[in-house]
This record gives sequence, C-alpha cells and structure tokens, in this order.
Amino acid sequence: MHRSDWKSVLDAAGAAALDHLESLPQRRVYPEGDHEAIRAALDHPPTETGLDPAQVVAELAGDLGPYITAHASGRFFGFVIGGLHPASWGAEILVSTWDQNAALFPPTPGVAVAEELAAQWLVELLRLPAESSVGLVTGGQMATFTCLAAARHEVLRAVGWDVEADGLLGAPPITVAVKEGGHSTVLRALRFLGLGERAVVAVPCDDQDNVRPDALERVLRSVRGPTIVTVECGNVNTGSFDDFAAVADIADAHRAAGHPTWVHVDGAVMLLAAASAAMAARVRGLDRLDSWSTDGHKLLNLAYDCGIAICRHPSAHRAAMSVQASYLEQGTGARDPMDWVPEFSRRARGLGVYATLRSLGREGVADLVERTARLARRFAAALAASGRAVIVNEVVSNQVLVRWLAPDGDHGRLAEIVMAGVRAEGVAFFSGTTYHGERLMRISVSDWATDEDDVDLAVEALLRHAAHATG
Ligand SMILES: Cc1ncc(COP(=O)(O)O)c(C=O)c1O
Repeated sequence: MHRSDWKSVLDAAGAAALDHLESLPQRRVYPEGDHEAIRAALDHPPTETGLDPAQVVAELAGDLGPYITAHASGRFFGFVIGGLHPASWGAEILVSTWDQNAALFPPTPGVAVAEELAAQWLVELLRLPAESSVGLVTGGQMATFTCLAAARHEVLRAVGWDVEADGLLGAPPITVAVKEGGHSTVLRALRFLGLGERAVVAVPCDDQDNVRPDALERVLRSVRGPTIVTVECGNVNTGSFDDFAAVADIADAHRAAGHPTWVHVDGAVMLLAAASAAMAARVRGLDRLDSWSTDGHKLLNLAYDCGIAICRHPSAHRAAMSVQASYLEQGTGARDPMDWVPEFSRRARGLGVYATLRSLGREGVADLVERTARLARRFAAALAASGRAVIVNEVVSNQVLVRWLAPDGDHGRLAEIVMAGVRAEGVAFFSGTTYHGERLMRISVSDWATDEDDVDLAVEALLRHAAHATG
C-alpha cells in the first residue's frame, strides 16, 4: 500500500486551523477583497506532475485564509448561521480522517451506531415522541424535503395510492396549506416532490408571521382529501413560534372529518427551544404534530453541514426514502442510515451530533436557546434606547428585526448603509430582509461563542455608523 506523509499534511492544516480559530475574537468578521482578488490568489491550475499534498494544503490555507468569512465569530449576526462548537470541530476531523461512507450498517458499523445513538438523543432532548425516526441530511432544505416526502407517502397511502410505485400521474390531489410568512425552502421542497407550488393554499399570518388559527381552520374547511399543513418553530424573520396546540387541534378535527392530514414543522431556526424548560409554553403542542425539520449547523453550532429530519411515523419516513440494490448489504436488522435520507453515499454526519450533544449536555443545549434569546433582547434594548432604531418584532427568541430611523424617511436605505458600514469595517456582520414590504436589518444571535461584549461592541459600531450616516 502506498504510504503518505500524513503528519506533514496535518501539520499544515492544523497550523492553519488553529491560527484561524484562535484569531476569531480579533479577526475581521467579513474579509476584504473582491472576486478578482480572490481568483488571483487561488488561480494555480493543476500542473502535469502535481504537487506534494502538504505544500498544496499549506498554500491553500495561505491563499484562501484571508478571504474566509468568520461564521464562527461571536460577532457574525447575519442570516441564521451557527458557530463552530469545539466538539463538532474535533468530530469532523475524525469524520474526514476515518472517511466512512455512512450509508449502511454492515460496512461501517461504528459510525452507524454513533448516528443511531445521536438520533435517539435528539428525539429525547427535543421531547418528541419516542417512536420518531431521524434522518441526518445536509441542511434544513433537505430535512424539509425528507419530511414532506414522508408526508406525501402517508396522506396518499391513506387513500389507497402508492406514490413511490405509481408516481403522481393520476394520483388523488394533495392540498398543502402553507403559512404566508413561511420559508421559501418549503415551496422548493414541494417543487422537488412534484406537488408544485400551485398545490399550495396560503394561510394568513398575524403581524409576527405566526399562523392565525382561525385562518387555518377556515382554509381547511374548504379542503377535501389528502392534506399537508406546514408551520414553523422559529420564523426566520421574527423568531416566533406558531401555536402548535391550536394547529394540532385543527389538524385532528380535519382528520376526524375523513381527510388524511399531516402537519410538518419547519424548525430550522428554533426547534431546539423544545429542549429548554424556559421555552415550554412557546412549544406547547409541538409533540402532537407529525414531522419536524431542523438544522444542526444553526443553533446547535455543528460544523456545516447538518440538517435533521424527524418523523413520528417511521414507516412513512422509511417508505419514502429507502432503496434496495442487489450489491448492497441490507436487512441485517440494524439501523441503516440511508433508509432515512435521500442520499446514497454520505458523510458520517452523526458524529458531529453525537460529540456536540455529549459535550453540551442537556443543560448546555437549553442554555444555547436561552442565552442567544437573552443576547437578542440585549441588542433590542440597546438599539431601542438609542432612539435611532425601532424594534419591529416581539423578541421571543434569537431573532431581532430593526428599522433604522432615517431623518428623510428612507429607513430601508439607512439600514443598508449601516449594515454595509459595519461589514466593511470588519467588526461584525448583519444582513437584511424585506418584511411585510419594508426593508429592515435582521439580527440573528446563533453562535455559542457570542457574549455580552460582542453584543456591546456590535451595538457601538452600528450606532456609530447610523450617526455618521444621518449626520
Ligand atoms: C426557517 C428556515 N427554514 C429552512 C431553512 C433552510 O435551511 P438550510 O439553509 O440549512 O437548508 C432556513 C435557513 O435559514 C430557515 O431559516
């Protein structure tokens, strides 16, 4: 067997990795340099004879390092991006080192069992029904896709249609009731599933983008036959929670009226709230629904990428996902990871979940939820007290919506100027949104490493840029 000088490669990668991670408290959150500069730094085409791996890795780190956005910085507040928990980082090094194709139990029994345990711990931690099945995928998008594929299977099975065998041509129609303020990945999943965006009936929301139960009830009154409803645990803009108990009651009534019904929860932003006793009132009824999607790479602070699909109906989940092939080793009775996900070959994603949950412990997970919400409130209080900004949402979790008050009334333009100024300075990173027609700044506190000092530093920079822009 060929041997390699693994140590020299590890030394090169390890030195660069430590340099990056240890510099996070001081380093720029957003890099300087445009597309042209980055291409120029990286444009070293493969030569005829190649290069020593350690040299390539050292040069990659040197060339690309200056252009890395510090997602793992405690002052990255854009989109909804988690940081990097040290246990996840360490586990990912092992995942790459062991290089397992974590699809089936027989060829890779170790990582299959680690994933099985991580899945079980997630269900327990989130207080979801013990019988629930779990698939670890690439992100919230694919988790929602997986859950809605299971939903499609189940509501059609209930009317005698086998969608996996017969497809959708000639199938009884499915109506999908989607909240108006819901995330675009739900509609994208419906496209992938052949249901199409026109299968959707929009359900009106309140001013926090929460489903209005009376509106859902009204919508479902006119829906016949197979029905899927999607709601949210943590709206991407407001961070708010739908009224799961009310939704569950309405779904039960619809089901009792003879319409096969499945309720899916997009919990990419805040499914983890179910692990926090302090948030119990917000997630009441969550465990009565049918499937839940979330992200490991958001609030759980796993390395990219990790999405989590959970279904209370394992048979539907498995029927929608599993596949047989003559050359595989299947049916041993042990859990095969590929039975629960759309991928065939796949990374041993469960190791990051396993290690991070063990390291955080139950209290650590709850603390992530509560601490990020507390820091979001700190942001909101400081900005509101400045008189320069108005907080548009009720800050019930880790998301804050900010209207910067422009003397000329063009608040959206001021928001863009403030965000761009702070980003260019490198001290923090914020991103915007259009909420109910208005351009706003969003704050997402999703990093385990963020502390009060990070918030205060970011607030100071924001206010300084706002003052500068408004004179
Ligand atoms: C509410 C919600 N759902 C789904 C997603 C998609 O998740 P991912 O980017 O991991 O696919 C996001 C991403 O921000 C989200 O905020």
